[in-house]
Amino acid sequence: MNRTPVAILGATGYTGAELIRLLDQHPHFEIAYLGAHSQQGKRAGEVITSIGNPAIANMILQASDTPIPDSIPLIFTALPHGASANIIASLINNGKRVIDLSADFRHQSSQTYLEAYQAEHPCPELFPLAIYGLSELQRDRIKNCQLLANPGCYPTSLLLPLIPLLQKRLIDPNYIIVDSKSGTSGAGRSAKTNLLYCEINEGMSAYGLPRHRHNWEMEEWAQCLGGLTANIHFVPHIIPMTRGMMSTIHLQGGHAQAWHETLCATYQNEPFIQILPYGELPSTHHVRGSNRCSIGMIATGENCGVIVSCIDNLLKGASGQAIQNANIMFGFEETTGLSSYATWP
Ligand SMILES: NC(=O)c1ccc[n+]([C@@H]2O[C@H](COP(=O)([O-])OP(=O)(O)OC[C@H]3O[C@@H](n4cnc5c(N)ncnc54)[C@H](OP(=O)(O)O)[C@@H]3O)[C@@H](O)[C@H]2O)c1
Repeated sequence: MNRTPVAILGATGYTGAELIRLLDQHPHFEIAYLGAHSQQGKRAGEVITSIGNPAIANMILQASDTPIPDSIPLIFTALPHGASANIIASLINNGKRVIDLSADFRHQSSQTYLEAYQAEHPCPELFPLAIYGLSELQRDRIKNCQLLANPGCYPTSLLLPLIPLLQKRLIDPNYIIVDSKSGTSGAGRSAKTNLLYCEINEGMSAYGLPRHRHNWEMEEWAQCLGGLTANIHFVPHIIPMTRGMMSTIHLQGGHAQAWHETLCATYQNEPFIQILPYGELPSTHHVRGSNRCSIGMIATGENCGVIVSCIDNLLKGASGQAIQNANIMFGFEETTGLSSYATWP
């Protein structure tokens, strides 16, 4: 069977490099085009030294806004939010299917985008085309979509456990406190003073307050898929770790045993969702390098408890989920090219 040619725009960033790693080993997709911005014109292997395949390493990085050959039906865009939308509009006009890892099409209204990203959206007319790609909960809508908005990493870690509980009315939607920790790869590869080794090492800081931009995404999709208006108090932290994300979710209004039964039933056949035995809690070590979301919970009082949800931000939180969605869109086995095993130790 011929492999389907794909392009990656933003190939030189952390999520782009992870897409290269996954797609080069995928039996049904073939990397045919790599796009970059400041690094255009260089050999891919010069900029992403982790590439092991000489044929990919020798590809020349093209400008991300140059026309993509007709022979390539699927484009992954791994660009900063704001840089994606116009490029995607032209790809869509040319009949391409697009999986966008940025936030540019994760919202359903330009007002929400404006509030979250403090910028006017350049092409809101595309919103009706975009499908929010939380794979396990949106599978039927993903299959035939032309424009897939891959969810944010923090929202993925929260929404997977939260939505089934909202749907079943097992928690108080006004009391959802999310304390999240992320490794620094979550902030991307570009140089920033607050990400220097001396600023990050041996320390931990909260950021993005009073309202991090992912808060809008969390509340919008909690309501849309969970069926209830949710009041989510979200505090992200950056910690001295390269990759990995943990969200500790404080809930009340029900018993954690009931939450556990519901999540076990919802995800019993899902290869990438692991519900740990009641009372066991996950660590980022359990998911590093895998496309798995590992979820554990325990009651902390009569009517309250915590759920801990761990993902690898570059896999289930970005490029892994993007490949899972590509598999759904092209009718391949959903697990193809993805591992549920972590790299451990
Ligand atoms: N990192 C994560 O864990 C994560 C998780 C979920 C979603 N995301 C989202 O995924 C997207 C990519 O994230 P990342 O972490 O991979 O970012 P990154 O490491 O900063 O990489 C950004 C990429 O976009 C290119 N680029 C930068 N400015 C551009 C512009 N104005 N026009 C076109 N291309 C431009 C860069 O090319 P050059 O290197 O050639 O300049 C690079 O290839 C972002 O929207 C991010 O929010 C990231």
